[in-house]
Amino acid sequence: MQRARQIDILKELMRQLDEQVNIDAGVQYRNPVEAYTSPSIAQQEWQTLFKAHPQMIGLSGQLAGANTFFTVDDFGVPVLATRDAHGRFRAFVNACRHRGVRVANENRGQAARFTCPFHNWTYASDGELVGVPRAQDFGPLNRAEHGLVELPAQEAHGLLWVHPQPNGHLDVSSLLGSLEDEIAGWNFANLVYMGQSELRNRLNWKLANDTFGETYHFPRLHRNTLGKLFYGDALVYETFGRNHRFVWANKGIDALREQPEDEWSYEAGAGWLYYLFPNVQLSGGGHSASVIKIYPDGDNPGRSVTRVDHYYSQEMIDAASTASTLISPQEVYDPQARRGAAPTIEATMEIFDSTIEQEDYRMGETTQQAAESGVIDHLLFGRNEPALHHYHNTIRSALKLPPLEMV
Ligand code: FES
Ligand SMILES: [Fe+2]
Repeated sequence: MQRARQIDILKELMRQLDEQVNIDAGVQYRNPVEAYTSPSIAQQEWQTLFKAHPQMIGLSGQLAGANTFFTVDDFGVPVLATRDAHGRFRAFVNACRHRGVRVANENRGQAARFTCPFHNWTYASDGELVGVPRAQDFGPLNRAEHGLVELPAQEAHGLLWVHPQPNGHLDVSSLLGSLEDEIAGWNFANLVYMGQSELRNRLNWKLANDTFGETYHFPRLHRNTLGKLFYGDALVYETFGRNHRFVWANKGIDALREQPEDEWSYEAGAGWLYYLFPNVQLSGGGHSASVIKIYPDGDNPGRSVTRVDHYYSQEMIDAASTASTLISPQEVYDPQARRGAAPTIEATMEIFDSTIEQEDYRMGETTQQAAESGVIDHLLFGRNEPALHHYHNTIRSALKLPPLEMV
């Protein structure tokens, strides 16, 4: 990300904090609750945005070295993602070419070969069918034509993308559009995968996403957690086609005021998220990142699954493992305890996930209940919530629904 842009963003956040004003989209919208409850909209989304749309499934660190793999079952097509013996990222339908049984049955690991549990047909990490027991009994079989069904897959700027349809079109440059250079600048490829958590909740996948769409709630809902480290009611927001960048103020921004501008650290003064259409919130870059992927759960529009993948730089992992003072999950949000101490990686991951689940998604679950009651017909998005305007209008446009109605 360009240094000049970072400085501008920090200055704009300082201005908003000084003047006690938030970002102003100049418009308010109504969002009909059907967006969260309608089975037909949910079905359309599943087809258009998941089963037939490119999916960002992780960062390069998920596949650390040749012959590593992970499986994904979140968007209707079972996927086996591998890094083959030559280090190339590949993706396959996780189904045996004999009678369709699931070939890779672990979430992730290291394997040069995948043996189907049913009759033990065996595939290499590049999908080739390399073993058929008692082939003479089975009868003629052209092995070259019976490798795992390959899916379009592309690794770019440390991001792993798959198209769930074998003949689908996948072009990461066009998906990232004008955000591509900025994403490339963060070196996501250098980060080490540290773990994933799964949050299954009773709220629509877009309602889950909405909790990442404004800073208005930071000092209120999160007053005892995130609100201790970050300022709310201030936001620098920019759209890039269907994607966006969302930047808020870290309380560390106060200390920057005493420093010359060319020493300002963006990381110290800001926190940021990139929304990647249709369902990913990517936070961080540099020394750590969290990839938050949000999916519908089955065909009930009132349920969703969120997977949060955590990645850290090797330097940060080493620093946390050798730090003399480590702080517990309870202390992660305590600015006093953090002074001169490093939280363990585990503590940071745990607190990040539990804040989403215990605070944000709790709110969303009650909204879901209200929406399903049938007695309220819309939610309101304020002038200080532009990310919600853009997100919902983008999804609606992809589904060929009319844009949100202005208040
Ligand atoms: S179904 Fe896989 S070997 Fe038969
Ligand atoms: Fe939140």
